[in-house]
Amino acid sequence: MSRPDLLPVGELPPVGVVPRRMHATTIRRERFGEPPGSFVDEVVDVPALAPDEVLVAVMAAGLNFNAVWAGRGYPVDVIGLRQRLGEPEPFHVAGSDCAGIVWAVGAEVPRHRIGDEVVVWPGWYDSADPHVRTGGDPMRSRTLRAWGYETSWGSFAQFAKVKWTQLAPRPRGRSWAEAAVTTLCGVTAMRMLHHWHPHVVRPGDPVLIWGGAGGLGVYGIQLTRLAGGIPVAVVSDPERAKVCMALGAAGTIDRTAFDHWGPLDPAINDGAAMARWVSRARAFGQAIWDITGKGNSPAIVYEHPGEDTLPSSIYVCRPGGMVVTCAGTTGYMASLDLRFHWMMEKRFQGSHGGDLDEWARFNSLVEQGLVDPALGHVGDYDDIGALHAAMADGSAAPGKTAVLVGARGHEPLGPREITGPDLGAR
Ligand SMILES: NC(=O)c1ccc[n+]([C@@H]2O[C@H](COP(=O)([O-])OP(=O)(O)OC[C@H]3O[C@@H](n4cnc5c(N)ncnc54)[C@H](OP(=O)(O)O)[C@@H]3O)[C@@H](O)[C@H]2O)c1
Repeated sequence: MSRPDLLPVGELPPVGVVPRRMHATTIRRERFGEPPGSFVDEVVDVPALAPDEVLVAVMAAGLNFNAVWAGRGYPVDVIGLRQRLGEPEPFHVAGSDCAGIVWAVGAEVPRHRIGDEVVVWPGWYDSADPHVRTGGDPMRSRTLRAWGYETSWGSFAQFAKVKWTQLAPRPRGRSWAEAAVTTLCGVTAMRMLHHWHPHVVRPGDPVLIWGGAGGLGVYGIQLTRLAGGIPVAVVSDPERAKVCMALGAAGTIDRTAFDHWGPLDPAINDGAAMARWVSRARAFGQAIWDITGKGNSPAIVYEHPGEDTLPSSIYVCRPGGMVVTCAGTTGYMASLDLRFHWMMEKRFQGSHGGDLDEWARFNSLVEQGLVDPALGHVGDYDDIGALHAAMADGSAAPGKTAVLVGARGHEPLGPREITGPDLGAR
């Protein structure tokens, strides 16, 4: 078949036939700001492949908060960053979660055949990097970038461009939308809870999970429960609490019942103000004990809100425990009272994404039904801007959100009930 110019979203040419152009939801510098305005559907050329790259026909894409950051151009101007690295396109295609079909392969791709059904790991790195070639963790490679954030050609388009190292088989028994949502937050959760020895979740360990019904939270709860830990989820409304309980939380805490959030400065230098803060943080700690039992404080605190919550996270973490963080959604001011930190010998650990082994282990749990993808909403390709706006203002449906691209018309749109993992499958 001759090469078509452009097809409507939801229509694919015969497998392996690559159109010249495609629909892509782009971010441009002149539109940097809040969604939905930061995202616009355009027609762009399908990207050419380097020898180690694969073109994937996107069947469904998962939403992640990083596309909100990309659209804001803050804290990183992702377009300027890439242009400085030699990539000329004046636009960015976001999207770090994807399920799709291999449509074309570069000349040096050692595996993956056209027609393979795959999911995409968002860790992009140069496999020629000596650190990686000699067995080093790709997460520490100087070439590591978050695909769809620090690289373009992510999943909010008809075709995505990836390194061959980013692909794994689509988990069996999962719809395109379910398969699309798990990768970035799943692998991040896996590393946060199982990588930082000796602070890994163990049977009986309470783990405090911020944003329990959000993208990271839904997997944090399930991985804690699977390891025999006690997941305590923080939420902001009863609907989200219900989702957390379905996923295996031992209990939930409504953060709107407390008002001590934010950085410690200036309270830390004012005795009375600090005493007030401590009494509120204690009340929050008591709410945790109401679930875990008196004195049973979190062995691990699963952090990502950042500025608003970090002082409390450090405070309620048990002596010798760990606060592990992968983000600062509410701000980057990491304030903590060092007295609680050193006296109680606590650990504050950064964590970013996860490696291929962590991803394989997570995918296997999804495939076995031991982890529910926690798909809460399926939207259409045309909804990408609006759905990111809901994510940015906190009104998104609980759980993960997918949009249908190639699978448009093949799966129902709208809310999905999150029922939780099939633990009978263990
Ligand atoms: N470094 C990495 O590898 C990595 C990987 C994935 C994600 N991230 C980052 O992690 C952050 C969270 O991602 P996500 O996918 O979980 O986002 P999400 O789906 O939007 O969920 C975040 C949750 O945080 C809670 N939250 C919002 N404001 C809060 C506040 N002021 N205090 C406490 N909780 C608050 C909300 O739950 P309630 O309103 O119910 O409390 C929300 O559901 C983002 O910044 C994202 O970019 C980093």
